[in-house]
Amino acid sequence: MAMSEPSRRSDSPGVERVACSPEDTSWRERLPRHVAIIMDGNGRWAQAQGQPRIEGHQRGVTSVRRTTEHAARLGIEQLTLYCLSSENWRRPAAELEFLMCLLEKYMIEERELIMRENIRVRMIGRRDGLPASTLSELDQTVEMSAGNTGMTLCLAINYGARDEIATAARRLAEEARAGSLDPGGIDEDMFASRLATAGMPDPDLLIRTAGEMRVSNFLLWQISYAEIWVTQACWPDFNETLLEEALADFARRDRRFGGLSPS
Ligand code: IPE
Ligand code: IPE
Ligand code: MG
Repeated sequence: MAMSEPSRRSDSPGVERVACSPEDTSWRERLPRHVAIIMDGNGRWAQAQGQPRIEGHQRGVTSVRRTTEHAARLGIEQLTLYCLSSENWRRPAAELEFLMCLLEKYMIEERELIMRENIRVRMIGRRDGLPASTLSELDQTVEMSAGNTGMTLCLAINYGARDEIATAARRLAEEARAGSLDPGGIDEDMFASRLATAGMPDPDLLIRTAGEMRVSNFLLWQISYAEIWVTQACWPDFNETLLEEALADFARRDRRFGGLSPS
């Protein structure tokens, strides 16, 4: 299908480069299987409104809800959301406490949406350090949705990619020491099968809000060939339109995986 020349939205490479015309919906035929999002800028959003940082986190939950529902309805196979990094423990105790309460509340309040939209919830990240009550609500939501057959919603909570990779290496070393594994047989597929994301497709599209051009220890192994899309919008301002813009841009990308474009 012929596409009109996209208009430039920004001079920075990779940042909101195209605006799709509303009538062009051809991107719906070229959806990524797996979208991963670094939900950033909650604090900056709040500060810009003269409000405390936690207000940004609170408002961010609405963006999570809208994005999840829209992605599921569009037919995205997996949505992975970076909710808390292993480095976020460096933040003030009061902010962390608020985030834990918010997570717990989210796990309860989103069950209706999760079951209505046939979404299967999974979690990646370290359980240690998270409050027992938060883990309990999380486990209940994961269990309740385990039989759902629609989109997988993977929540990265207390997640760090380097820790995930080191853990996988440790697992393989222990299996080798126990004699159940030949170290010479370790290849990429075997390594990936020891990661927290075992069995999940790699992200095709990585979205980051709030303009930062970095990956902040997110899915380092899995994003090897992900297409990156960055918006200046802070996470509380992310919505269905921006998700569609990212998907439309993704549909125009020439993914070569090291090879050459078909001539
Ligand atoms: C993202 O927003 C949410 C978490 C990391 C938990 P931030 O809290 O990082 O917001 P900024 O980047 O400081 O604006
Ligand atoms: C990344 O955002 C982590 C999450 C979105 C959960 P940060 O705000 O922690 O990233 P940096 O510190 O700016 O790299
Ligand atoms: Mg941030």
